[in-house]
Amino acid sequence: MPDKPNTPEAPTAPPPPPSTSATGPYYVTTPIYYVNDRPHIGHCYTTLLADVAARMHRLLGRDVFFLTGTDEHAEKVVKTAQERGLSPMEWATQNADRFRAAFDFMGFTHDDFVRTSEARHKERASAYIQRLVDSGDIELGDYEGWYDPSQEEYVTETVAKEHEYNSPVTGRPLEKRVEQNYFFRLDKYEGWLRERFESADVRVLPEARRNEVLGRLRDGLQKVPVSRRIKEGDADWGIRMPNDPEHRVYVWIEALCNYLTMVDEPARRKYWPRPDGAQPEVVHLMAKDILWFHAVIWPAMLHALGETPPSTVYAHAYWIAEGRKMSKSLGNFIEIDQLEAYGERYSLDSVRWFLTTQGPLGATDADFAHARFVEVYNADLANGIGNAASRVGNMIAKYFDGEAPDAGGCTSLTAGEGESAATYDWASRTQAALDVFTREAAGVGLAGALNAGLGLSNDVDAYIGLTRPFSIAKDLDGDPVIEGMSNREALAAILAHCAEALRIASLLLWPAMPEKMGELWRNWNCSPLNDPEDPRSGFKAPLSELAQWGGAHSIQPGQRIAKGEALFMRADVKEDPPQAAGAQDAGA
Ligand code: MSP
Repeated sequence: MPDKPNTPEAPTAPPPPPSTSATGPYYVTTPIYYVNDRPHIGHCYTTLLADVAARMHRLLGRDVFFLTGTDEHAEKVVKTAQERGLSPMEWATQNADRFRAAFDFMGFTHDDFVRTSEARHKERASAYIQRLVDSGDIELGDYEGWYDPSQEEYVTETVAKEHEYNSPVTGRPLEKRVEQNYFFRLDKYEGWLRERFESADVRVLPEARRNEVLGRLRDGLQKVPVSRRIKEGDADWGIRMPNDPEHRVYVWIEALCNYLTMVDEPARRKYWPRPDGAQPEVVHLMAKDILWFHAVIWPAMLHALGETPPSTVYAHAYWIAEGRKMSKSLGNFIEIDQLEAYGERYSLDSVRWFLTTQGPLGATDADFAHARFVEVYNADLANGIGNAASRVGNMIAKYFDGEAPDAGGCTSLTAGEGESAATYDWASRTQAALDVFTREAAGVGLAGALNAGLGLSNDVDAYIGLTRPFSIAKDLDGDPVIEGMSNREALAAILAHCAEALRIASLLLWPAMPEKMGELWRNWNCSPLNDPEDPRSGFKAPLSELAQWGGAHSIQPGQRIAKGEALFMRADVKEDPPQAAGAQDAGA
């Protein structure tokens, strides 16, 4: 496709709203993490977002593919391995296993875990590079620039100067490097890229990040170095330029290729759009540090390869810890063992809930502060969904012998008196929550989607407060509290409403809290999973059917509702933060 000339500077219009009726395959990715690092909250957070998004879209009935993995060909892997008397592969394997273990602990449901040292990645990435050489998109040239060895990337003169020729990320000194390199002709694609962002063919989210990309595009695009000459004594690590084995492919360029290499085979090709065929949705998640690679370089590479760019590039902000930026020098990274300690004390699902709903999903950094964790835990979980589920389960046990009562066809009640009176039309309330959930999930508004579930559970709590079923139960033969119904009928209707609304809330909360909602489903005999014991067994129906008020999957009169244990015990705000078991030996 010929390039359009660069368009003149134009004011940026807001992106069109996300599609709400998305169907078809959904492919969600995380960055592949440097294998030299220890897994920490940042890695776990982006991967958790991908897990929650994957679960949401599976629940919505879509065919989902969720990919994460490790980026292994960095120079520092070779260096650290040497220091430890290991081969680069041995060291990479040790650390890739730590990432896998961390992600298992977090309950992630990725469909594959890519290691860039695997043949399946290397062979295909190498073939893409050759195609770019053949098409004239990669060519030889001279390069002089500031290289950041600690980050394996070149930085522009402006950035180098701004940071006094030190790494903008680690603060370590930059090196001036002059090399004959291969270059990717990114400069050819400026106009094409601008059009993608303006038409939202490629949605860059959140909007602050999209504006940032458009702003930087206006400064013009330069060719990007994609290789380094191999020096004598260099370890055989990484991918060689297929047309010139004296050169090694720059780690970033081959790392980006993982998103395509891992689905570039017949059974998985449905997850990557074809210009003339299926249009799955491809969502790349990451933090703002690596937005440029994902929003600009990668889509241009894909276009040059004759492939379609991703649908969405979502770059969230950062976690900080107790009000301070996390850094190696401060040694204050919240690492996986710290998250495990939180999981141990407060449950894994509470960690998943806190990170997803309180994290830096938008453009603003978020603070992992212990006091805030406890506050959110108590408000949303112990006093929120946990308490609502116990109240309803206990009342059904007490007043109906643990069998779901019959609402007798009643779906709406007006409760409360005077100013506090409110009408609870449950079918429309639950449908509204479902609509919010679906819309938010489509726009990576994961916290918004989950809060639609929490909102329903809070509605149940408020409804109990207004209708006071526990008082009605004490006066079953008294004057009717609700017109047209005996008190027994009113009590049954209220508790049936509560149980059914909570069942629907639990579906919307499940993507963040699969264990606890699974527990509730077991107690209430209402699991929507094909195999209630297997969270990967798939759903009996898409969410639109599962969550239908009074539909085929609703709680039936007479169904066993066991009280079960409290889902979340209240936490003591005065308790010290849980301590990690002990720092592990890994990483440079
Ligand atoms: N290997 C490259 C990515 C290549 S993708 C083709 C890389 N790796 S990384 O290990 O440094 O991971 C960076 C990513 O980790 C961020 O984009 C983000 O997803 C996550 N985070 C790292 N620190 C973070 C925070 N403090 N807060 C939130 N997420 C952060 O870059």
